[in-house]
Order: sequence, then structure tokens, then C-alpha cells
Amino acid sequence: MALSGRVEPLRRAIELGANLIDTAEVYGTEDVVGQALHGIRDRVFVATKVSGSNLRYDDVLRAADASLRRLQTGVIDLYQIHWPNSAIPIAETMRAMETLVDRGLVRRIGVSNFSLPELREARAALSKYPIVSNQVLYNLNRREIEDDLLPYCVEHRITIIAYTPLDDGRLAVLPRVRMNRKTLVLGRIAKETGKTPAQVALNWCTSRPNVIAIPKSNRSARVVENCGASGWRLSEHQIQALDAAFA
Ligand SMILES: NC(=O)c1ccc[n+]([C@@H]2O[C@H](COP(=O)([O-])OP(=O)(O)OC[C@H]3O[C@@H](n4cnc5c(N)ncnc54)[C@H](OP(=O)(O)O)[C@@H]3O)[C@@H](O)[C@H]2O)c1
Repeated sequence: MALSGRVEPLRRAIELGANLIDTAEVYGTEDVVGQALHGIRDRVFVATKVSGSNLRYDDVLRAADASLRRLQTGVIDLYQIHWPNSAIPIAETMRAMETLVDRGLVRRIGVSNFSLPELREARAALSKYPIVSNQVLYNLNRREIEDDLLPYCVEHRITIIAYTPLDDGRLAVLPRVRMNRKTLVLGRIAKETGKTPAQVALNWCTSRPNVIAIPKSNRSARVVENCGASGWRLSEHQIQALDAAFA
């Protein structure tokens, strides 16, 4: 019963066509994801993460094994290093990540919270397989990656997985009073497009080249709403207006 509320929104998202589920060993949600995937594993791209404190060679292998068991799957589609750890040589961690791919337990290697220098170093430490993604903070209010990381990832065809794309809900629920320039523009564009502010904020994220977004909600109605952020496009004019208001 306690878990049903969490499996249900995941199932609902998958029914609506969501095809990527992101989790991590530290979230404590891999078991729930495993349950939600019963019978429909093939329809979903499963991404999880090894904690930044488990980056020694043997620890990575052990962590992956435990994640596979909790997820009740034979392979992780994307295995990400959750955050960098300067105390452990990245070459050691990447050797373990490549071993996991060689053993058929992981399909692709990703990182998370890596700055541009850290990403460069991590890429150089791999000998056989590429880094396909970097999961980082990105939303209308938090656009730091646009300076260097995003252009680099576009150039090297590394997907940016935007976490906290609704700025922890702040972009989804606009204030009723005391609207500022940002919320006024977001609200206006939501009206123009017939979408909600959350759908506009998510669509803005994915209008960037190479960017996908992973909103989180424990409520099925919001999952339905967030799934409605795809299948249409903001106009160039609307994107420019949002860019300017949230600059
Ligand atoms: N790699 C990392 O270090 C890292 C760090 C942070 C997050 N992440 C990933 O990113 C995912 C999302 O990030 P996040 O949870 O930080 O932030 P988020 O998706 O920007 O916002 C989630 C918050 O917004 C609310 N919300 C969601 N949809 C809504 C809607 N349509 N209308 C109103 N409120 C809505 C949720 O509440 P309810 O649940 O009550 O609906 C929740 O409080 C996480 O699940 C995680 O996988 C990764």
C-alpha cells in the first residue's frame, strides 16, 4: 500500500509514452522502479547512478550488481557516476564502468554533476566506450551550463539530462499576486499555447539541442500534465521571449 502511490505514477508515465526512468542507488527508489517495470521492461530506458562515494573499482562493480538486483533487470541502459570524487582517480572508476559494459551489465556510460574540466578528464580516461550523457541542473532559472558545458556537449554529441527542470516546482505553480517579469512571460506563453506553465518550462528545456528533461512527480495527475510537455514545439519567438525574461 505504501508503495502503490509511487509505482502508479511511474506506470502512468510509461502508459503515456514516457520512455526513460532515472533513479540512483542513493535515492532508495530502485526497488519501486523494478516493481513498476514488471512485464514492460523492454518499453523503458532505465538510467541509474553509482554514488560518488562508491567509485573504487570493486565498489563500482558491487554497486552495479546491487542496482541490477533492486531493479530486477539483467542490464542497466545508462549507468551514471552520480557526482565526481577527486579522492579517487577517474581512470580507476572508468575501468570499472568499461568492465560493466564488457560484461553486458551496462549498455552506456554517463556522468552527472561533472563540470567541463571534469567531463574532459573523464572522457580521456575511457579507452573503449564514450560518455553519452551528463546529468546536470538546468531549467529556466538555472542556466549556468549555457556558458561552456552545453556548447561542449553539443559539439561532442553528449546528451544533457536536465535535472530539476521545474526548479523544484517553482516553474510549475505561478504566484497569483506579485507576478514579476519572468512569471508574467511564462504565464502569457502558457495562455498563448494552451499549455500549463510546467509544460512550457519543460518544452523550453527540450527545445535546446541535445537536452532532455527528467521532471519528478509523485502525483499521477501531474505526471499526465508533465507528459503533455512533449509532442509540440514552442515557436522561436516564444523561446526568445523566455530566454530574455529569464536571462
Ligand atoms: N543527478 C543529480 O544530482 C540530481 C539532483 C536532483 C534531481 N535529480 C533528478 O531529477 C529529477 C527531478 O528533479 P527534482 O525533483 O529536483 O525537481 P523538479 O522535477 O524540477 O521538481 C519536482 C517538484 O515539483 C513538483 N511538481 C512536479 N510536476 C509538477 C506540476 N506539473 N505542477 C506542480 N508541481 C509539480 C513535485 O511535487 P510532487 O511530487 O508533489 O508532484 C516536486 O516537488 C529527480 O527525480 C532526480 O531523478 C538528479
